[in-house]
Amino acid sequence: MKHESILVVDFGGQYNQLIARRVRDLHVFAEVVPYTEALQAIQEKEPRGLIFTGGPNSVSDSASPHADSALFETGLPVLGICYGAQLMAYQLGGTVETAPVSEYGRTVVRRKADSVLLNGITDETVTWMSHTDYISRVPEGFAVLAETDHCPVAAMGNDAKRFYAVQFHPEVTHSEQGQVILSNFVFEVCGCAGDWKMDSFIEDTIAAIRAKVGSGKALCALSGGVDSSVASVLMSKAIGKQLTCVFVDQGLLRKDEGDQVEAVFGPDGPYDLNFIRINAQQQFYGKLKGVTEPEEKRTIIGEEFIRVFEAEAKKIGAVDFLVQGTIYPDVIESGLGDSAVIKSHHNVGGLPDHVDFKEIIEPLRMLFKDEVREVGRKLGMPDYLVDRQPFPGPGLGIRIIGEVTEDKIRIVQEADAIFREEAANAGLDKVFGQYFAALTNMRSVGVMGDFRTYDYAVVLRAVLTSDFMTAEAAAIPWEILGKVTSRIINEVRGVNRVLYDCTSKPPGTIEFE
Ligand code: XMP
Repeated sequence: MKHESILVVDFGGQYNQLIARRVRDLHVFAEVVPYTEALQAIQEKEPRGLIFTGGPNSVSDSASPHADSALFETGLPVLGICYGAQLMAYQLGGTVETAPVSEYGRTVVRRKADSVLLNGITDETVTWMSHTDYISRVPEGFAVLAETDHCPVAAMGNDAKRFYAVQFHPEVTHSEQGQVILSNFVFEVCGCAGDWKMDSFIEDTIAAIRAKVGSGKALCALSGGVDSSVASVLMSKAIGKQLTCVFVDQGLLRKDEGDQVEAVFGPDGPYDLNFIRINAQQQFYGKLKGVTEPEEKRTIIGEEFIRVFEAEAKKIGAVDFLVQGTIYPDVIESGLGDSAVIKSHHNVGGLPDHVDFKEIIEPLRMLFKDEVREVGRKLGMPDYLVDRQPFPGPGLGIRIIGEVTEDKIRIVQEADAIFREEAANAGLDKVFGQYFAALTNMRSVGVMGDFRTYDYAVVLRAVLTSDFMTAEAAAIPWEILGKVTSRIINEVRGVNRVLYDCTSKPPGTIEFE
């Protein structure tokens, strides 16, 4: 079933995903497309309206991205945001100049005229600005809808053509009535009804999977993370035992995690699928022996994973479909823009070359993470699986600095389990975006029971983040840190010191390697 949709036309803005998220919060499906593919996407997807994103450029710079002028001839409503607003003004005959005063951050916007875009908005409203250029003269047919102290055109509109533009960012929560503006555009201007609901997503997807797979067989690499778990359950609801899930326990999972995955997906769990657990711990430990360099560790774990999975797939024989837990941010990030590689992230992305299958199925590829979680909850999956924090593919391998040994894995698993337990007791597990214990490669002198010790230092990391691109260290109450420290030192053999990492990202990363 085709949903009504809004196309977010990307001009390089850092908030492109956020715009799509906010529109979807209104139960209207939104997709991000690069500006170079917008026209083609309009033909294929038949959206109800377009939103032009912000971007770092200046419209008058000849190298800057411009909208295909045909986009203004489609008859579709357009909302331009920041650079997208300037682009609309410039390309339709208005004037854009360098602003005498740049506006960054919190800025009060005053209404100058009534418009459907500003329905329900107070005469003065707090918005979030980030611009060095501004619209100094609107194109013919446009009215100035709002201004600020330093920006003569904070919003403009042409009701006849249904073109609107705002210099501020309605998509960020700092713009206090930003969501009302998006809602006005999506419902009042574009006429959407709001048909994007997770219940209907599940029904439609199950029907589509059944139609596609028919009586064929599908294979899924199940990691126990949120995405592959929800993808597996959705697939199993659609095709039952035609699905085989292979779970590779590489011995680098958190404490008891392998057994938890087996309890849910194995023969004693609630789902009707073929589940294979491969205990490949020793194989991975052997490969990691003596290796200390982080990228080398990541590569070894990634390649070994593929090898183990491939060997199992060969036993199963040819399958028709390979299932992957790809989600929408992966799709956007691999399709748009090119940023520097800080760490080579490992997923099951390398598999297609190695396994005998005809086609890939990615049932979650259009969903954001919180939508995936909502699907999981609606499918009746347990909270501890659905709410699980992202866990890196290389697992504890990159939370142990230096060489990975079985003894170090034991230390990290036990220390991490204590930290998790105490964080949950204090209700902090839902506050932290990511948190864990890692093992430094440092040993130091201590004293326990009148004896000298020379043991490892565990480091605790807890960060506040929602997008994982930036993060700040969480200010954990001292008594909780003290309790975790004392429990780790008393209960985990081989540790005599616990440290807390206060570094934000950037300059640190969330994981240590
Ligand atoms: P960093 O350390 O880059 O981590 O700040 C950001 C988030 O990404 C997770 N992460 C990974 N996820 N494969 C993954 O699937 C990986 O190789 C990987 N490395 C880091 C990390 O746990 C954090 O949540």
